[in-house]
Amino acid sequence: MVDHKDQTHSSLLDFASLWEAEYSRDCHLVFSSGRSPEKYLDLRRQVPLLTPDTIICSVGTEIRYGPSMTPDNGWEEHLDEGWNREIIVEEAKKIATLHFQEDSEQRPHKVSFKVEKKDAEEIIRRFSKNCDEQLDAKLIYSGGIDLDVLPQRAGKGEALAYLMKKANSEGWAKERVLVCGDSGNDVELFTVKGVNGVIVGNAFDELVKWYSSQSSKDHIHFASNRCAGGIIEALKFFDMGPALPPRERPGGNSNGAASPRREIVDFYIFFDKWVKGDIPNTDEAFQRLTSVIAEDARMVYPWGEELNLLQSLAVVRGQHGAFQGKELRTWVDSIQEQELAPGVYLATWQSWEQPSGENRKGYYATAVFKDKKGAPNGVEWLRVHQTPQKQK
Ligand code: GLC
Repeated sequence: MVDHKDQTHSSLLDFASLWEAEYSRDCHLVFSSGRSPEKYLDLRRQVPLLTPDTIICSVGTEIRYGPSMTPDNGWEEHLDEGWNREIIVEEAKKIATLHFQEDSEQRPHKVSFKVEKKDAEEIIRRFSKNCDEQLDAKLIYSGGIDLDVLPQRAGKGEALAYLMKKANSEGWAKERVLVCGDSGNDVELFTVKGVNGVIVGNAFDELVKWYSSQSSKDHIHFASNRCAGGIIEALKFFDMGPALPPRERPGGNSNGAASPRREIVDFYIFFDKWVKGDIPNTDEAFQRLTSVIAEDARMVYPWGEELNLLQSLAVVRGQHGAFQGKELRTWVDSIQEQELAPGVYLATWQSWEQPSGENRKGYYATAVFKDKKGAPNGVEWLRVHQTPQKQK
């Protein structure tokens, strides 16, 4: 998902806005990472990531739910059976070329090492033989450097299969599941029965080799784009839903249906483009913003002031290009919407801003919308509250 080579994170931002506008209402976002929860949270502070519904951490050995990241204890109990971490650690100490990773990445059901590519094959052979004689462990080599030893029952694929089984009653259709990966620890994801998958353009050798060795791979798309860009490409390839990032689509919703969700996403994108000077500084262009605000709409600002929304947008009008060439990232997350009465909607979301090299700053927002015929997303803004989020 995250392209560490792209400081602008443009495709990640595209994915975030596309997901929030088009998928978040009835789809489930799961991040499946090799990182420990701590390392994942570190990354989250640095790059524009959405808040997933579920996160599978530590190479499928930990499953956490919701924004509070509540652990699935049942999963970890399931992994306890037949697992003896100590044996792995003792065996590892006998091999001089095996180096333990940092403490944060040593987890109850995961022992992790760094192994040079040139030594990898030999070490994995020796180590698996020793481990196998004593317990049923799984060895996974990723990114041409990381070696993880896990219980046989663990791994990203096993964790996904467990989630899918649990969600069966919610009707997750297998063919609507899209798995995405770039390294060795993702191989398992592509072997979960019935799912579609994308190997992103920047995938590591070990995953590319695995792909080449497969005879049946119609369910896998090998993307030409990197990271989140490859994932967006796959949404289109598998015809899973809209695949044009909101930033690139002109106007709003083509079918005219009321969508506060799309309106929120489009509004922030407009704002971002406006202050960066990516939209011409004309009355017509600015109309996009003002035409969807009710005349008496009011907004409570994070600094505790209540203003008429249209009047305060006049200030924004004057900020055209103020952030030109600056790396300011803005995105919205966790949009929830509810139709309170026919044509009246309550929406809540979080918005984030992150100047390059700084930690992100977040806000909670609540707004009321009502139907408006002919508006880009079929609704207009009646009222907004925005409150700063406590820094975590
Ligand atoms: C992440 C984890 C590391 C693991 C690697 C490959 O980088 O931090 O512990 O070995 O993924 O799975």
